[in-house]
Amino acid sequence: MFATGITVMTTRAADGTPVGLTVNSFNAVSLDPPLIVWSLSRHLAQRDAFEQCKHYAVNVLSADQESVSRRFASKTPDHFSGLTWDEGIDGIPLLHGCCAHFEVRNGVRHEGGDHLLFLGEVVRFQRFERDPLLYFGGAYRRLAPLA
Ligand SMILES: Cc1cc2nc3c(=O)[nH]c(=O)nc-3n(C[C@H](O)[C@H](O)[C@H](O)COP(=O)(O)O)c2cc1C
Repeated sequence: MFATGITVMTTRAADGTPVGLTVNSFNAVSLDPPLIVWSLSRHLAQRDAFEQCKHYAVNVLSADQESVSRRFASKTPDHFSGLTWDEGIDGIPLLHGCCAHFEVRNGVRHEGGDHLLFLGEVVRFQRFERDPLLYFGGAYRRLAPLA
């Protein structure tokens, strides 16, 4: 019952393979310096890549990217197949069609039960005039005005 946006965290594995997963635990922490936080399940295959990389990207999904969210939360072998993206710092994938991208320096990590908490510093960002994709009560939603 806590409404969030949806992000896809992307990076490169040590062999250069692009890696990503859908994440809604993302949040802002500090403005000065600009820090963000998110948590990663310890049991996921993507763990090594995110622990070892120097940079990763936060791709903030837009309202018409529900299929991108589903794809990066699935067991699909190649999450990136058929998608287009630009390369950020260290070649990290910046997916096309998002509301915003943050390029983040991998900072400290903390144990968080069955998850690992990642604290990172934003080194570059871009925003685009698109509505965000929302998640609430296990379902995808859109913004709607109050009145
Ligand atoms: C809306 C949504 C939010 C998610 N948020 C997180 C998250 O914050 N942290 C996390 O570790 N997994 C999160 N997941 C789950 C991962 O996206 C998913 O388990 C993972 O991509 C599956 O990887 P695999 O195919 O390699 O098993 C979320 C999934 C969905 C649908």
